[in-house]
Amino acid sequence: MPFPLPESWSGRTLAGVRTKLLNWFDKHQRDLPWRRDANGKLTVPRDAYRVWVSEVMLQQTTVAAVVPYFERFLTALPDVPALAAADEQQVLKLWEGLGYYRRAQHLHAAAKVLMENHTGALPDDPDVWAALPGVGRYILGAVLSQAFDRPLPIVEANSLRVLARLFGYRGDPREGEGKAWVWSAAEVVLPSKRVGDFNQSLMELGALVCTPAAPACDTCPLSTSCEALRLDLQEKIPPKKKPVAITEVSEVGVVVRDGDKLLLCQRPANAGRWQNMWEVPHAPRAEGEEVNAAAVRVAKELTGFDIEPGAEVMVIKHRVTRYAITLVCVEAALVGGEFVPGAYAEAKWVTPAELANDPVSSPQRKLMTALANPNRQPRLF
Ligand code: ADE
Repeated sequence: MPFPLPESWSGRTLAGVRTKLLNWFDKHQRDLPWRRDANGKLTVPRDAYRVWVSEVMLQQTTVAAVVPYFERFLTALPDVPALAAADEQQVLKLWEGLGYYRRAQHLHAAAKVLMENHTGALPDDPDVWAALPGVGRYILGAVLSQAFDRPLPIVEANSLRVLARLFGYRGDPREGEGKAWVWSAAEVVLPSKRVGDFNQSLMELGALVCTPAAPACDTCPLSTSCEALRLDLQEKIPPKKKPVAITEVSEVGVVVRDGDKLLLCQRPANAGRWQNMWEVPHAPRAEGEEVNAAAVRVAKELTGFDIEPGAEVMVIKHRVTRYAITLVCVEAALVGGEFVPGAYAEAKWVTPAELANDPVSSPQRKLMTALANPNRQPRLF
C-alpha cells in the first residue's frame, strides 16, 4: 500500500518539502564539529568515522553536551585503527559523564571487527554495518546517508516530531504501529540526492524550530505544508510521553580507608550497568536498616572487608532509568578481611588524587571529586 500523504497536499507538495528543507538547512545549520572533516573543512559527504562517533554520542544526549566529548574523543582516538587498539578503560574514560557506556563498548568492539574483517575501512555497505555491534537502524541510516549518501531513513526524537507534525499523524509515533508509520514516513520524504543533508535537516529543524513546546511555526520553512499547523494541532502532535512510575531507592556507599588510601572496586563485565567501571562499593539499604549497619553489611557482602563506619561524606541523589536513588556515602576505616571477587571483579587501593584516573559513573564522580579535594580531612571516629 502506498504511504498515505495528507489529502490537503498537491502532487508537488512533497518535492517542495524536500527543496525547502534543504534550502533552510543550507542557511541555518549549526556549525558542528562532525559536519567538518579532521582539517576543519565542511565536506559532503562527510567523514564516516566522525559521523559514526558523533551519532552514537548524539543518540543519548544533546548537541551542546556532546561537542566537548566529541572533540576529546577524536583527538585521543582519531580513526578506526586508534579506536580498535585502545584499551577499553581509555574508551570508557573518554565517555565518562555521557552515560550509556554500553554504546562506547559497542563502538570499541565494532572498531575491532572492522580492523579484523575490513582492514579498518568504514565500508559503503549496509550489510557490513548492520552486523556491527551497537548498529541499529538509526546508526545505519545516519552513517550511510551522511557518509555515502545512501538513501536510508533515520528516526530519532527530533525528526520523529517533525514528521508526525508535517503529516498530521494522530497516533503515538513512539509506540506500536506508530513506530512502523514513522519509519515509513522517514523513507517517503527522502530526496534522491543529498540524503545525508536531508536527514540532518529534519533533526536540525526539530532542534531549532519544530521544538516540543511552542514551535516557531512562523519561521518554519514547512509551515505551508504542515498538516498539524493547518489543524492547529502542533502542540498536541505528537502526544506527550507517558510519565514513567518512579521507584525510590535508598542506597549506602562505603568509602573504605586504609591509611591514606581508599578502596576502589571494578564492576564485573556482566553487571547490569556500568560494566568494567570503577566505584566505591554501594548497594541498597534493607527496609529500616540504619546507615552504619548497612555500611558494615554492604562492605562485607560486596568486598569481603570488615570496616568500622565513620562520618557521612555526602548524600548524592541521582536518577537511573526509573529509579530515583538517594546514595548516602559514609567514610569507614578498614578493620580486616580480604577482598573476595564476585560482586566486584577487582579491587585496588588508591590515593584520593588517583581517583581521577579510572572511568566511573556520574554519581560516583561527584563523590570522588569531593574525596579528591586536597583540603578535605578524613572523618573517622
Ligand atoms: N542529533 C542526532 N544526530 C544529529 C546531527 N547529526 N546533527 C544534529 N543533531 C543531531
